[in-house]
Amino acid sequence: MYINLKQATEKAEELNCTIGAFNAHNLDMLPPMIEAAKESGSPIIIQTSVDTAKYIGFKTLVNVARGIAEFDLVDVVLHLDHAKNFSDIKQAIDAGYSSVMFDGSSLPLKENIMKTKAVVDYAHKFDVSVEGELGIIGGTEEGVTIDGAEVMYTEPEDAKYFAETTNVDALAVAIGTNHGQFKSKTDVNIPLLKKINNIVNTSLVIHGGTGVKEEHVPELIDNGIRKFNVGTELLVTWTEEAKKCFSDTKVNKSLRHNIIPCNDAVKNIVSQKINLFMNKDSVKL
Ligand code: 13P
Repeated sequence: MYINLKQATEKAEELNCTIGAFNAHNLDMLPPMIEAAKESGSPIIIQTSVDTAKYIGFKTLVNVARGIAEFDLVDVVLHLDHAKNFSDIKQAIDAGYSSVMFDGSSLPLKENIMKTKAVVDYAHKFDVSVEGELGIIGGTEEGVTIDGAEVMYTEPEDAKYFAETTNVDALAVAIGTNHGQFKSKTDVNIPLLKKINNIVNTSLVIHGGTGVKEEHVPELIDNGIRKFNVGTELLVTWTEEAKKCFSDTKVNKSLRHNIIPCNDAVKNIVSQKINLFMNKDSVKL
């Protein structure tokens, strides 16, 4: 089924697991990602940046994600990642995305709340879920870098106020992860996450999942992380595989010979991550 983020995180809450949210950079990545979810018996969140949505087409992405979800009987959420403009969010919702993120993390708290709430009010009319963000997550995403000096951890009391005032369905927290960190792993601030989770009654989201140590995942799940973003690991793997395949290909060889190995590599990673995120071997959603 084609579902929204709230429906996915409610299942995760029930079973104390987290749902993988995987960044797709081209249309080719969607079928292998969803196939991996189907084989693991898990819902999946496919997410795109605004620029990727514009490159592929919002409506095309919706048609493909919804089409595979319905044909293959897999629970799929299509989510817009890190949107900063209401017009992009409206375009995604109008095209049929089932979930959007408004990233107002660089704004003063009051303005972030006001703008996030406006998105929630609009999105909920269409049964579309909304993720907000509080605190500033470091690292590089879509070519934009936030360095150490700008990073701001999420303040638990602010998070509680933000979640209650905006009525978001999920909240991205800054607890030490960084976007685009694939050469090393980070130390996540679990005590801070615990404090946030103790007072915030909303599903929490990890960004920068590529840089998270596998051994931290169970503790993140136990402390309220219900959406787990992974992007860079897939992008790097797809690109590395493509470089190998295309470097010595004949120019008139069918493209599929070079693209299938890239998609297989993505499927492999998504399968491994989903199994890790399901927390228990026996959990079938
Ligand atoms: P990584 O690319 O670091 O895995 O992070 C993905 C993400 O958080 C998307 O918003």
